[in-house]
Amino acid sequence: MALEGSTMGQLDIFSLDGRVVLVSGGGGAIGSAIAEAMAGVGARVAVAGRTLEPCQATAERINAAGSEGLALAGDMTSEADADRVVAETIARFGAVDIVVNAIGGGAGKALHPAEAYPRSDWDWIMELNVRSTVLPTQAAIRAMIERGAGGAVLNLSSVRANLGINAGYSAYVAAKGAISALTRQWATEWARHGIRVNAIMPTFVDTPQVATLLADPAFKAGIVNRIPLARVGETNDLVGPAIFLCSDAASFVTGQILGIDGGLTATQ
Ligand SMILES: NC(=O)c1ccc[n+]([C@@H]2O[C@H](COP(=O)([O-])OP(=O)(O)OC[C@H]3O[C@@H](n4cnc5c(N)ncnc54)[C@H](OP(=O)(O)O)[C@@H]3O)[C@@H](O)[C@H]2O)c1
Repeated sequence: MALEGSTMGQLDIFSLDGRVVLVSGGGGAIGSAIAEAMAGVGARVAVAGRTLEPCQATAERINAAGSEGLALAGDMTSEADADRVVAETIARFGAVDIVVNAIGGGAGKALHPAEAYPRSDWDWIMELNVRSTVLPTQAAIRAMIERGAGGAVLNLSSVRANLGINAGYSAYVAAKGAISALTRQWATEWARHGIRVNAIMPTFVDTPQVATLLADPAFKAGIVNRIPLARVGETNDLVGPAIFLCSDAASFVTGQILGIDGGLTATQ
């Protein structure tokens, strides 16, 4: 199916028609927006997450819009669950072409001074952000390599991979730094298989994860005042870049980390 309403064949390079996407964390705020947008440009989408209900909600919206969505429950910090979710995606759709890693966060719940950052929260943030990205990606990539038809991976980094913040974010900045580094490393290793790996790095996106922080007018003003476009992000700001990076429009783009930050990092 070509992009609906498109009279320009050139837009077809942004289509994900026939592609199978696994959105890990597709029940979350950002993952669900990306999952639904990718379905809207032709993809069949497996929506995976720890709790089934939000994944089902995303899959149901995808199905109601006339595309194909499949909800899968699994803890993506468990190798067995990650392997099973990828196997179930392939069992239903025949392959996996694209992985979107949208699990992570937790920074606001694990704020500690850098000199006394406790190991328990350090390990939790690393598991939530890094392990949950590594395991489903490894499982999907093994299948992609075996199939030999290439593929694409999109990771969720953050401007915090590049920018310090005067709050107790040590583990989160380290985790997102790891995601950006892995994006470059994976792109380098898997290029020979025709697999591209990119990431997006948003600044604050208006989502439940950061709602408490953004509800503080002084904190929000401090953030917005440093962003040239003078607002925080919306989940819809992420979908165009996500589709681009996973589509044929980006066929020569790999190992890149695209800031979606209203110009914030341009000022640093
Ligand atoms: N929101 C922002 O401002 C912002 C800015 C920059 C980057 N990011 C990044 O964007 C990504 C998505 O953020 P978000 O705001 O959309 O978060 P979110 O709404 O909390 O979504 C994350 C999803 O991941 C799932 N999940 C967590 N741990 C899991 C596990 N072990 N196995 C399977 N699923 C698990 C959660 O499911 P459960 O609820 O069932 O646990 C949830 O549905 C994160 O990597 C975050 O760091 C966010």
